[in-house]
Amino acid sequence: MSLIKVTDLSLAYDTGRAVTELNFEVNDGDYLCIVGENGSGKSTLIKGLLGLKKPQGGTIEFSDGLKQTEIGYLPQHSSIQKDFPASVWEVVISGTQNADIGYRPWYTQSQKATAQSWMEVLGIEDMAKKGYGELSGGQQQRVLLARALCATKRLLLLDEPVAGLDPLVTQDMYAILRTLNHEKGLSIVMISHDIQSAVQEASHILHLHNTMLFFGSTAHYVSCSVGRRYLGGEQQ
Ligand SMILES: Nc1ncnc2c1ncn2[C@@H]1O[C@H](COP(=O)(O)OP(=O)(O)OP(=O)(O)O)[C@@H](O)[C@H]1O
Ligand SMILES: [Mg+2]
Repeated sequence: MSLIKVTDLSLAYDTGRAVTELNFEVNDGDYLCIVGENGSGKSTLIKGLLGLKKPQGGTIEFSDGLKQTEIGYLPQHSSIQKDFPASVWEVVISGTQNADIGYRPWYTQSQKATAQSWMEVLGIEDMAKKGYGELSGGQQQRVLLARALCATKRLLLLDEPVAGLDPLVTQDMYAILRTLNHEKGLSIVMISHDIQSAVQEASHILHLHNTMLFFGSTAHYVSCSVGRRYLGGEQQ
């Protein structure tokens, strides 16, 4: 079943159009990688999917049962997040507020249990009391992933989750995402500049260049001209 269906979508800023004429679907269990050069509209599209940016044209439809507020989101890294003055526990559990109806100044037992269990899955439960700003980049990304997981049971949107991570930590992150996709049945939409890993990990590829250069299965992408060119000919 289709979780998200995007039809003729355009998103724009005052300064001009960011992305136009997008047509694609995300189905239950998909692992979609969004690739493309800097400034090609990837983060803007994610903001559109989250409802943070209104379409200038076209539509974004969600399947029944999936609310926009029940999507787990890991934003593109910024220096502000790196010094965020909160403990690991506070950052992770704040993800549960997303799925809740309205804001409450306390957390329920079930929200606490959700945060605790995702921290255990990601192996960060021992860091609960540490300041988020004291962690390494790889640890911070795990914390942000745990936060995103607290917000959803079905769909994760990840904006460059491995940017700036060393190769080993990057492989750990991919292994975690693979498990979440294969074993926990979560659908994943991930922006990445790591094209080689994208074609290894993802089931589908969306290649943007302010418009859509390609959308389809990874197997099709690696054999089509757009994909072969972007992959530097290595998969020919
Ligand atoms: N807040 C904004 N106001 C005006 N223009 C913006 C804004 N955010 C992005 N843009 C412009 O929209 C276009 C797409 O930006 P976007 O951030 O979506 O690109 P991206 O593909 O995520 O790039 P990167 O790989 O560098 O993260 C760019 O031309 C950018 O300058
Ligand atoms: Mg971006």
